Amino acid sequence: MTFRLSHHQPGSYRCQSATLLVLLSWCILQLAQPVLADCECGYLLRLPSADPVSNARSVSSSSSNDQTTTLLFTDLIETDFSRLAAHSADTNNNNNNNANYHSQGRWWDNTDWIPQAFNLTRERARGQYGEMFAVDNVRLFSDDQSSATKKGVTEEGLELVVRSDIVDGMVPVAELDTARLDVRWGTFRAGMKLSSVPGTCAAFFWYFNDTQEIDMEFLTKDFHRSNNSYPVNLVLQSRESALAGFDAAHPAPNNNTNNNENPNFVLAYLPFDPTAGFHEYRIDYLPDRVLFFADGQQLASMAGSAAVPTTPGHLILQHWSNGNPLWSGGPPSLAAAKAQGDPDGPALEVRYVKAYFNSSTIIRNDDGGEPQQKWEGEAEYNSRCRDPKALNAVCEIPEVTPQDTSAVSWFFGDHTNMTHGTVQPPGGSGNNGDGESDASRVIMGMAWVAVLLSGWLMVL
Ligand SMILES: *[C@@H]1O[C@H](CO)[C@@H](O)[C@H](O)[C@H]1NC(C)=O
Ligand SMILES: *[C@@H]1O[C@H](CO)[C@@H](O)[C@H](O)[C@H]1NC(C)=O
Ligand SMILES: *[C@@H]1O[C@H](CO)[C@@H](O)[C@H](O)[C@H]1NC(C)=O
Ligand SMILES: *[C@@H]1O[C@H](CO)[C@@H](O)[C@H](O)[C@H]1NC(C)=O
Ligand SMILES: *[C@@H]1O[C@H](CO)[C@@H](O)[C@H](O)[C@H]1NC(C)=O
Ligand SMILES: *[C@@H]1O[C@H](CO)[C@@H](O)[C@H](O)[C@H]1NC(C)=O
Repeated sequence: MTFRLSHHQPGSYRCQSATLLVLLSWCILQLAQPVLADCECGYLLRLPSADPVSNARSVSSSSSNDQTTTLLFTDLIETDFSRLAAHSADTNNNNNNNANYHSQGRWWDNTDWIPQAFNLTRERARGQYGEMFAVDNVRLFSDDQSSATKKGVTEEGLELVVRSDIVDGMVPVAELDTARLDVRWGTFRAGMKLSSVPGTCAAFFWYFNDTQEIDMEFLTKDFHRSNNSYPVNLVLQSRESALAGFDAAHPAPNNNTNNNENPNFVLAYLPFDPTAGFHEYRIDYLPDRVLFFADGQQLASMAGSAAVPTTPGHLILQHWSNGNPLWSGGPPSLAAAKAQGDPDGPALEVRYVKAYFNSSTIIRNDDGGEPQQKWEGEAEYNSRCRDPKALNAVCEIPEVTPQDTSAVSWFFGDHTNMTHGTVQPPGGSGNNGDGESDASRVIMGMAWVAVLLSGWLMVL
C-alpha cells in the first residue's frame, strides 16, 4: 500500500476525514435507497369490479373506473420472445459479440422457459393419433431466418409448430412450460397470433394436475372467416370434467343457468380475427375466481365452483393435434400451412408472456394433516418491501385495451429498478431482473468502499 497519507497527518485530521467519509457513505447509501424503491412491494392488478374475490357476480361500473378492486402480486415472469428472436438471429449471423447472450447453447437457456419432450400414445392422447412433443417444434423465428419469412411481414417471436408428417403414429407437436411451478394466483398474459390452418388446438393455460387447470383453447377448425366466427374455449378442468372424460366439448351438465357463473366451461367469441394479427389473451387466477380476457375485454368469469383451482401451478403454451374430429381435428394439411407462409406446418406465434403472480410452496404437515401454505420467499419479500404505501413501492400493471394496445410493449424488466418482484427460478432466471439494478449495485459498492476506507483511516 502506498496510500500512507495518515503517516504525516495529525490525529485530528484523520478523525475529520474519517467522519467525512462516514458521512459521505451515509449520503451515498441514502441515494441508493430510492433506486431500490420501485415496485419493491409488487405489481398491482386493477379490476373493474366491486368484489372480484367473493362469489358475488362482478359489478361493472358503467360510468367510469371508480368501482375498481386491486390485487397485489409479488413476483413476475416477463419474456419478450421477439427480442430473444432478434438476438438469436444476430448470433446466427456471427456478427454479434454479445458473448453471453445465447451465443452458444439453447435459446431457452437463462430464460424462465423449458420446451417439453414427451410422447403420448393414441390412447393417452384420446385421438386417432398419438402426439410427439418435440423440442425442435418450439423455436424462435425472425425474418432473418428463411423459415420465418411470413409473406413480407416483419415478425419475430416464438413459434410452436404442428407438423403433418406422422412419426410412429404420432403427430409432432409443441409445448413450452415455465420452469417455476410455484405460481399461485396471478394475472397471466400472452401476446399470440393463431394459425388459420384448420386441425390444431392452440392452448394457453395454467396447470397443476388434471383437475386443477385453467385453459384457453383455440380450435382452428372452428374459425370461420365467412361469418366472422372465432370461438375460444374457456375451461376449468374440474372433478366433474374428469368424470366426463376431460371432454371439454361436452362438459358435465351443471344446473347453474347464469351464463356468467357457469362453473367450468364457456365458449366465448372473439371480437376480432385471431389469425390476422397478435392479440393479448389473459387469464386472471384469483382466490375463488377465474377471469378470462382478450385485449383487456372480459370474456368470462368463473366462480362459486369447486373447479376454481387452489394450488400452485405453472404456465404452459401448447400447439397440438391428435386427429380427434370432436376437438382438435386434423392433422393439419402441410400444403395449407405452406400457403400461409409456414413451411413446416401451422405455427402458433407467441410474441410475449407476462405473468404477475404470488409464489407459494405447499409444505405438508408430517402428521399427514391439512397441507400448510407456506411461501418460501416471504422473508425476502418482507425485507425488500419496507412500506407498501411508500411512493412507487407498488407498480400498477399497464393494461392493454381494444382502443390502446401500447401496454403490449411495456416490460418492467426494461427498467432495471423495477424487477425486484421475482425469485430466481431453479436453474436461473432469464430476462427477469435479479434484484438490484446494476446502478444501485455500483452505488452500494461505492458506499461499502467508503465505509471500509473510513474504518481503515480510523484504525490508523
Ligand atoms: C427507475 O428507473 C426509471 C427509468 O428506467 C426512472 O425513470 C425512475 O426515476 C427510476 N426510479 C427511481 C426511484 O430511481
Ligand atoms: C400476494 O402476496 C402479497 C404479500 O404477501 C399479499 O399482500 C397479497 O395480498 C397477495 N395477493 C393475493 C391475490 O393473495
Ligand atoms: C418419441 O418418439 C420418437 C419416435 O418414436 C422417438 O424418436 C423419441 O425419442 C421419443 N421421445 C421421447 C421423449 O421419448
Ligand atoms: C389434483 O390436486 C388436488 C389438490 O392436491 C387433488 O385434490 C386432486 O385429487 C388432484 N387431481 C388429480 C387428478 O390428481
Ligand atoms: C359460422 O359458419 C359455420 C359454417 O360455415 C358454422 O359451423 C358456425 O356455427 C357459424 N358460426 C356462428 C357463430 O354462427
Ligand atoms: C342437476 O340437477 C339434477 C336434478 O335436479 C341433479 O340430479 C343433478 O345432480 C344436478 N347436477 C349438478 C351438477 O349439480
